[in-house]
Amino acid sequence: MGLNQTRVDSLNDPGDLPHLKNSDNHKNIKEGNKMPRKIFIFDTTLRDGEQSPGASLDAAEKMEIAKQLAKLKVDAIEAGNPISSQEDFDAVSAIAREVEGPIICALARSVEKDVIQAGKAIEKAQKPMIHVYIGVSPIHMAGQLRKTPDQVMEMAISSVKLAKSICHEVEFSPMDAARAETEFLYEIVQATIEMGATAINIPDTVGYAVPDQFASLVKDIIKNVPAVNDVRLSIHCHDDLGMATSNSLAAVKAGANQIECTINGMGERAGNTPMEEVVMAIKTRKDYFDAYTDINTKEIINTSKLVSRLTGFIVPPNKPIVGRNAFAHSSGVHQDGILKSRETYEIMDPRDVGVQQSELILTSRSGRHALRHRLSELGYQLSDEQVERAYERFLKVADKKKEVFDQDLIAIVEDELPYVPQVYILEHIEINGGTGINPRAVIGLKKGDELFKEEETGDGPVDAAYRAIDKITGVKVELMDYNINAVTKGKDAMGEALIRIKDGDRIIIGHGASTDVIESSAKAYVNAINKMLHGK
Ligand code: KIV
Ligand code: ZN
Repeated sequence: MGLNQTRVDSLNDPGDLPHLKNSDNHKNIKEGNKMPRKIFIFDTTLRDGEQSPGASLDAAEKMEIAKQLAKLKVDAIEAGNPISSQEDFDAVSAIAREVEGPIICALARSVEKDVIQAGKAIEKAQKPMIHVYIGVSPIHMAGQLRKTPDQVMEMAISSVKLAKSICHEVEFSPMDAARAETEFLYEIVQATIEMGATAINIPDTVGYAVPDQFASLVKDIIKNVPAVNDVRLSIHCHDDLGMATSNSLAAVKAGANQIECTINGMGERAGNTPMEEVVMAIKTRKDYFDAYTDINTKEIINTSKLVSRLTGFIVPPNKPIVGRNAFAHSSGVHQDGILKSRETYEIMDPRDVGVQQSELILTSRSGRHALRHRLSELGYQLSDEQVERAYERFLKVADKKKEVFDQDLIAIVEDELPYVPQVYILEHIEINGGTGINPRAVIGLKKGDELFKEEETGDGPVDAAYRAIDKITGVKVELMDYNINAVTKGKDAMGEALIRIKDGDRIIIGHGASTDVIESSAKAYVNAINKMLHGK
């Protein structure tokens, strides 16, 4: 559909767009009101994030991320730059059509054809927005654009005016604002607000700013361009000097009420402000920022993993909030503290970002407290004396390996536990299955001198084998957990199955190893049943 008059009218209707003005925030700051300020989260993972060298997403992947961002409850999604390619235009249009909740925004240079194309791409959005930008620093105007400040001003004014004729929500970015002449910056901000911009975004395009200076810039804009109080005041920082998060938060403290950011900090060069960092900083230090976001923080990890998987950008283990080690504790002193009271070494509850629990990494620095805790999580309740013996053996393993894993612990502990008589022994296993064939298992278990055989079908070969075992033992088993791991390398790798079953309040671990993963699964199941029967 083209940009016909009907569409223009409907896009101009603000409808149920969120309250976007900054004036309430400033009023609150000036009057020292205690009401926390709402900070809008504008996500640009699909636009600036996708500009990361080496990252490229197809339309389906972009849609998947956009839907997850809506679940995360971002206020705005910058879905792409529709003039850049037909693929990007189609991806932005599809997101505009299908993703409900956030504002869907399209980027445009201050050029007529870009603005028109952006308008077409977002015309079906529930809450559409066009984001217009132009370089305003001397180096961008003279060096790249080869334009005078007057010409740049003219381009900004006419493109914002055009965007405003297409849709109500228009954001204007004076690109490279952190290196601009401030008087010119004030003038262009004032002029574009007069043309109808509903948001002004102050970019630190090259990551040049430092927090104090960036905060002063935001304060000076608020002071010198009072009209900024009637729109949303946004910032957009890059991380070239590792200060994107600090600069964004300093700007928020100075009065900005929107942060442009990306998941995992993706973006041009060193990337953009990582959303997870600013959102959790605002939440964790509410006492300092006196602000909040609407982000459903419990979706942070899911979103981070999705973006990492689809873009192929691995999240470093020590990355704040979303890194694998962000809630993992390694030193004995820290582990002891965490086990006594989580707050000793954690300022955030991992569950708030969607991580199930903190992790204690067992190394030679870990103490008995951490070992006992992990063993009880694995279902082993040992006496003090058993823990002591297990700890000595644990230290020997830990000295050889950097990290001691559950499999190692189980091997250590099984040796320390009293002998478990093998009530049942797996004698025979036969599996029949394949594409379109209902999996069937024949199991032979020996009990004393007697051999019992049963046959069962199931939802997969492991299920069929477990059902046949249940039929022989007549024991009611509640399977809680099932894991299979390769413990050696190559096509003939040994597969180790580790399962957990429940017997009333007792959790029992079973393990079994074989080059045949179905056999190791059956062995683990029989091992757990033997322990269960022995316990009784
Ligand atoms: O970094 C930048 O200046 C940008 C603009 C398009 C906002 O990405
Ligand atoms: Zn940028």
